[in-house]
Amino acid sequence: MANDKFQLTKEAALKYDSHSVPAMFAPLARATMEKIDLPPSAHVIDIACGTGALTREITSCLTGRGRIVGVDLNETMVTVARENQPESNHNVEWYAADVCNIPCDDKSFDFGFIQQGLQFFPDKSASLKEVHRVLRPNGRLVLTCWRAVSPFNGALADALERHVGETAATKARAPFSFRDGNVITKLLRDAEFEIVLHDAVVLERRFDDLHSQIMALPIEADLRQAGDTVIKTVVTEVSAELSQYYKDGILCVPQEAHLFCAKPVASTK
Ligand SMILES: C[S@@+](CC[C@H](N)C(=O)[O-])C[C@H]1O[C@@H](n2cnc3c(N)ncnc32)[C@H](O)[C@@H]1O
Repeated sequence: MANDKFQLTKEAALKYDSHSVPAMFAPLARATMEKIDLPPSAHVIDIACGTGALTREITSCLTGRGRIVGVDLNETMVTVARENQPESNHNVEWYAADVCNIPCDDKSFDFGFIQQGLQFFPDKSASLKEVHRVLRPNGRLVLTCWRAVSPFNGALADALERHVGETAATKARAPFSFRDGNVITKLLRDAEFEIVLHDAVVLERRFDDLHSQIMALPIEADLRQAGDTVIKTVVTEVSAELSQYYKDGILCVPQEAHLFCAKPVASTK
């Protein structure tokens, strides 16, 4: 079994897939693939694949005899990804594994993708070295990581700080904890990658149902413990704080990501 310190329940994985994926991770996957020229027969690994938002997008780009592998630390995320994968010419190989221990041979892949995973890896340097190991010499790492705290998460964290506590507020900010482009650039270079593209992707995250989308986040248990009155207050305050982002009654909040594309260089050590 993969590292069990970070395992989610199946219910949490399904909530992630039904709320956060359509609102954010699927649009980010589409925006990323629009910027990347993926050969139709490429061998590709999606690392920290979650429930497979990006893996599905990659699958739809591979028209030839490519190979696709999805790897995530969470067994439940991988299970949901496997259950979600539509019938196609490609049988995705799914593995529950830590990024530092990818169960694939050296130099197996033309492309390695990490969509919104790097910020959660405890040993980022070892993670990137492991990705370097499985990439072919002319391969590419495509990495996205949020570039600024989104107005939504900022407003949510502030409301949680006021009404629930610091631990919940920190969880709401966690996806944005690693966002300095210069730090990511140095990390990539230190892991022997040469950056060939550093771009920005700006998404509009839609909230069709703010209450449900807040309750689908990892802070759900903290909010439930705080009780219904607090939940109502948090949702009301977040909505008020974001009033400038309502368009025709729907909340649409911008969210920006770094997009890096880097190629492995031969080791100098
Ligand atoms: C925000 S989600 C992104 C998932 C997916 N890439 C997407 O776009 O929907 C972060 C993912 O990183 C995974 N993760 C965290 N630490 C990991 C590790 N050490 N090795 C592999 N995956 C990890 C989590 O299980 C989670 O699925």
